[in-house]
Amino acid sequence: MTYIFVMDKPLLDQAALQDFNRLVSARRSVRSFEPGQPIPKEALKKIADAGRWAPSGANSQPWEICVVEESQRVRDVASLMANQADRLNEHCKGFPHVHKKHWVHDSVALMVVFVDARWADTYPTAFEPELDATEYQENRWNILLVSVGAAIQNIQLATTAAGLSSAWLSGGGEPQTAQDLRELLGFPSTHTPYGIVPIGWPRRRAESRWRRPIEEVIHWNEATTDNLRSREDIDHYIEKERRHSIYKDAQSRDRHLSETTPVDGEIDLVDDGS
Ligand SMILES: Cc1cc2nc3c(=O)[nH]c(=O)nc-3n(C[C@H](O)[C@H](O)[C@H](O)COP(=O)(O)O)c2cc1C
Repeated sequence: MTYIFVMDKPLLDQAALQDFNRLVSARRSVRSFEPGQPIPKEALKKIADAGRWAPSGANSQPWEICVVEESQRVRDVASLMANQADRLNEHCKGFPHVHKKHWVHDSVALMVVFVDARWADTYPTAFEPELDATEYQENRWNILLVSVGAAIQNIQLATTAAGLSSAWLSGGGEPQTAQDLRELLGFPSTHTPYGIVPIGWPRRRAESRWRRPIEEVIHWNEATTDNLRSREDIDHYIEKERRHSIYKDAQSRDRHLSETTPVDGEIDLVDDGS
């Protein structure tokens, strides 16, 4: 990081900001990898190191980053995640899924971010148990999860910077999969794998994915209520848009949404890969 000073005053580094935004928007959850050459351990270590530098509540760093790179181990984790996806498909109505489960098998490595939730005890706790329950307890959980998200995000950004692609899988947090992963990777019951980042070589250029317009997301200095989304918007998203918004690129999402409305309850079996 270099700082530019003019007359002893720091100056905005517009070029660096633009480069950073380019990197951030190039990050995609890609669910298809080109089987390729291994990634040197040193590079994997640097990617994990980006996770290590994430901010965390009370600097608690509640994560352990398990880098899975031995090919048999990668296959074992991939099989576990395929089982998780099958269960999700069976149990969760209306959630689109990637039906070609083999794509995780093409990962060159996976980073499994285990979290020791006991570290939430290091966040603000009131003397009075009643006050703690109403005011602080839930927020300790928020702080923990948000911290972990920052670490996973850093890992994904580092993979993008290295010209690799990655995805973000949260199914490891489901009790059955969490237990399976603990047993496979040797972690105790105090630790839960809240994020799994399969890493691989891009099969093709990552497509753009739909984002809400910046004018809708930004609220300068105060809420502009006509820009806040309503309960109806959420229900509409679940019912009509979600299936097109997770795995498809922005253009095909728009195309699908402008076409005839799918039969209610109908689920796309989507595969954003090949
Ligand atoms: C907390 C979190 C959990 C996610 N869980 C999954 C998951 O289990 N499986 C999956 O395929 N993608 C998962 N994703 C990826 C999102 O679907 C993806 O980020 C979103 O559709 C936007 O696409 P993009 O990452 O390509 O920009 C998750 C992302 C986040 C932040």
